[in-house]
Amino acid sequence: MDEPMPTTSPTDADAHGTRRDFLQLTTIAVGAVGTAAALWPMIDSMNPAADTLALASIEVDLASVAVGQAITVTWRGKPVFVRHRTPEEIAAARSVKTGDLPDPQPDDKRVIKPEWLVVVGVCTHLGCVPLGQKSTDPRGDYGGWFCPCHGSQYDTSGRIRKGPAPANLVVPQYAFISDTRIRLG
Ligand code: FES
Repeated sequence: MDEPMPTTSPTDADAHGTRRDFLQLTTIAVGAVGTAAALWPMIDSMNPAADTLALASIEVDLASVAVGQAITVTWRGKPVFVRHRTPEEIAAARSVKTGDLPDPQPDDKRVIKPEWLVVVGVCTHLGCVPLGQKSTDPRGDYGGWFCPCHGSQYDTSGRIRKGPAPANLVVPQYAFISDTRIRLG
């Protein structure tokens, strides 16, 4: 006599399916947790160190910088030139026809206050630090900065005027937080 075939009721099948789904979900969940745990040290190591964060923005007191003088501050690992421009330097920067410049940019779009020029002191050719911060430095034909590496010359607005550099000195993000104090970054 034939033995009756064991039957699986729909309820059993549902139960098996549910158990299988549960096991699969648990495996996926454990896998996700495992991956997250493995990634954490890497992601954590990508967080900037506290000292880097502290330098993300700095304040610079300009009160002691006389007209005609310049200072260099380090911000985010780069030199930033702050020049207290003379009326002649401002006039020279504003008398140029913007269209004649290799990297056309009017002076008034590069400064917040005409007497203060703030630029990143890194030549846009190959990254040398141009000369011109000291009054005894060579400043090129345009009274700004002279890069001795390959002879690029910048004017009193930090714009490229001569030589291989393709672009003006970069104006960093900054704001005046008082008459004589700026925040970089
Ligand atoms: Fe300044 Fe080449 S790096 S001219």
